[in-house]
Amino acid sequence: MTVQGASSGQRMPQHVAIIMDGNGRWARQRGLPRLAGHRAGTENIRSIVTTCVDLHVPCLTLYAFSTENWSRPSREVQGLMAILSDFIDRETRSLHEQGVHLRHLGSLEGISEYLKRKVQYAVDLTRDNTRLTLAIAFNYGGRMDIVNAVQTLVAQGLPPDAITEQAISANLATGGLPDPDLVIRTSGEWRLSNFLIWQAAYSEYWSTPVLWPDFRPEHFRQAIDEYARRERRFGGLGE
Ligand code: IPE
Ligand code: IPE
Ligand code: MG
Repeated sequence: MTVQGASSGQRMPQHVAIIMDGNGRWARQRGLPRLAGHRAGTENIRSIVTTCVDLHVPCLTLYAFSTENWSRPSREVQGLMAILSDFIDRETRSLHEQGVHLRHLGSLEGISEYLKRKVQYAVDLTRDNTRLTLAIAFNYGGRMDIVNAVQTLVAQGLPPDAITEQAISANLATGGLPDPDLVIRTSGEWRLSNFLIWQAAYSEYWSTPVLWPDFRPEHFRQAIDEYARRERRFGGLGE
């Protein structure tokens, strides 16, 4: 293992975004209901957060529920809402104590008043924390994010030539955060599934066959290690 964190001089991503995929397959392999996979998929988040803090990665975004996931059976959708609610109850205090600033990316539309209030509470409580920003993309879709940003600008009365890339970026759900340097997807899939499609224009991509509930800090470190070896070009001729 060669990753030693920021002190090693290794190039570290400033923002890592993870598509937490494979919970359903994890459950099926064990003969369990899909929701058991989703529950298991919240147990490892704490250790990944701690690893980010240790490695001085200042921003982590987790894709937990997409705007397309509403098309799943309502039992599963309701279960995912309950899991988010439990996650907030169980983890907020400890995240706060670790200096984690929680952000929510996405829409609160369609979510119960009770859960909305809980999300708002966790975001407000941790607002001034600076060690790590943990953004939870829940009811998030990249296309919706772009549409909302453009609508905001239009509603402000901006003329067409003021609707620039910078203006759109600043009005996305991730406004103020750096674009993700690294996007990780578990469960062997190779697609973005409407996740941060604007922000990930030049992100490095890393996919692992490991199913999300089995994802551990060692896998995260592997991804960071691989990222450090990549040459980023941004359309130019390299470093
Ligand atoms: C990812 O796991 C979590 C969500 C999309 C909510 P999946 O539920 O997509 O798991 P698979 O892809 O069916 O294994
Ligand atoms: C992407 O996973 C969404 C989340 C991980 C929250 P999906 O499992 O919904 O994506 P597809 O349907 O395989 O593209
Ligand atoms: Mg999936």
